[in-house]
Amino acid sequence: MNIAMIGTGYVGLVSGVCFAEFGFEVTCVDTKPAIIERLQRGEATIYEPGLEDLLERNITAGTLRFTTDLAEAVAAADVVFIAVGTPSRRGDDQADLQYIMAAADQVAEAMRPGTVVVIKSTVVVGTGTKVRDRIRAARPNVPFSMVSNPEFLREGSAIEDFMRPDRVVVGVEDEHGSEAMHRVYRPLYLRETPLIVTTRENAELIKYATNAFLAMKVTFINQVADLCEKTGGNVQDVAHAIGMDNRIGSKFLHAGPGFGGSCFPKDTRAFAATGRDHGVPQKLIESVVEINEKRKRSMAERLIGFAREAGGNTVAVLGISFKPNTDDIRESPALDIVSALRGEGIEVRIHDPAAMETGKAVLHDVTWCASPYEAVEGAHVVALLTEWNVYRALDLKRVAKEMSGKVLVDLRNIYQPQDLAGSGLEYHSVGRPTLLESSLTD
Ligand code: UGA
Repeated sequence: MNIAMIGTGYVGLVSGVCFAEFGFEVTCVDTKPAIIERLQRGEATIYEPGLEDLLERNITAGTLRFTTDLAEAVAAADVVFIAVGTPSRRGDDQADLQYIMAAADQVAEAMRPGTVVVIKSTVVVGTGTKVRDRIRAARPNVPFSMVSNPEFLREGSAIEDFMRPDRVVVGVEDEHGSEAMHRVYRPLYLRETPLIVTTRENAELIKYATNAFLAMKVTFINQVADLCEKTGGNVQDVAHAIGMDNRIGSKFLHAGPGFGGSCFPKDTRAFAATGRDHGVPQKLIESVVEINEKRKRSMAERLIGFAREAGGNTVAVLGISFKPNTDDIRESPALDIVSALRGEGIEVRIHDPAAMETGKAVLHDVTWCASPYEAVEGAHVVALLTEWNVYRALDLKRVAKEMSGKVLVDLRNIYQPQDLAGSGLEYHSVGRPTLLESSLTD
């Protein structure tokens, strides 16, 4: 089976590489020559643990190729995946389909009869039908199958998620498309991964509803954290116990500074916009979007308050990626927080193990530091914003010694208050009682 993968972003590149690892002939296509040249050399263009090994192995084996020539790749393909970006459209929050439509037009021109065209990008319900009609209008005499196959991989664990998903969802409208998807996912099927074959509309809805639900779960626990802070509760204990109820489940119950990334923010906005477009407002998700935006601002205000209380003007920020194991800072809470601090004239010193290069493009007038210890030098407040492993076992006495103040604000709850004993630091976290140094025993 020959596969063309259009778009080498997170979803496209990871899926293409993994399909090659399954043994299919895969050609990945991108419009940007610089990206394709790097990929041809086996260089990962995104930060994703394990990706470079798979790239190298499959390029060497000859099953994985990269090109800017979409027509050539599509003409040779049995199955064409469209995995281009669907960013938020300015003005109405809806997903911008211009890249999908542009790709569809080129696929239509180059495909041969019997091609299976699969949308892997996250698209609003009804998009598959629109794309099908567009291709059909361009090539009325060429039979093809239109499929929706949303992807559920997470950045930072994308390969594992692709290889061991909870389920694979395919939305089809004919036997030919269904058969092709069974063949493509046979290697996972052998591992007993459930393959859900449904309508295209269902598949499109399943993707958005999944992300919207998960974002809602995170927002729920963040609000419970606020209540814990006011009532003397501990959100970790509460989350642990409610998560043991199988109907709720323990995942996505970590309170923090609000969700970010390239998916939850844009997908919740698009889900809400779709509800409005169809006259069925998705009030829950509308609230999730609003609460999450406010949360990022209130986290910044909290830090500004601590800095003012300390009579100081310097905050160290540890971690700016929206979560660990990625260099992605898209819609990261850190961006709003750093901007708000700078807006108040506060000096910001930043360290991140992977995202400093991406950060430099959007965050200005801040000091970039080579290590967490360099970042905390002279800081009145240290704000831990991303739960990278390197921050989990900091030498807290050394941190206290390097700082000018003594406030550590852990917005990811990666420390237990007793870890701070004897450090000389004042510890604040999310949804847990604040512990002052004097109340901790060494
Ligand atoms: C998310 C989904 O988890 C994937 O299943 C989906 O395929 C992907 O979006 C997508 O649509 O492409 P991702 O954005 O990589 O994946 O990141 P997540 O691990 O889901 O985290 C999203 C945000 O929620 C992060 O900012 C994270 O810090 C936050 N979060 C997550 C919490 O604050 N608490 C939690 O308990 C879990």
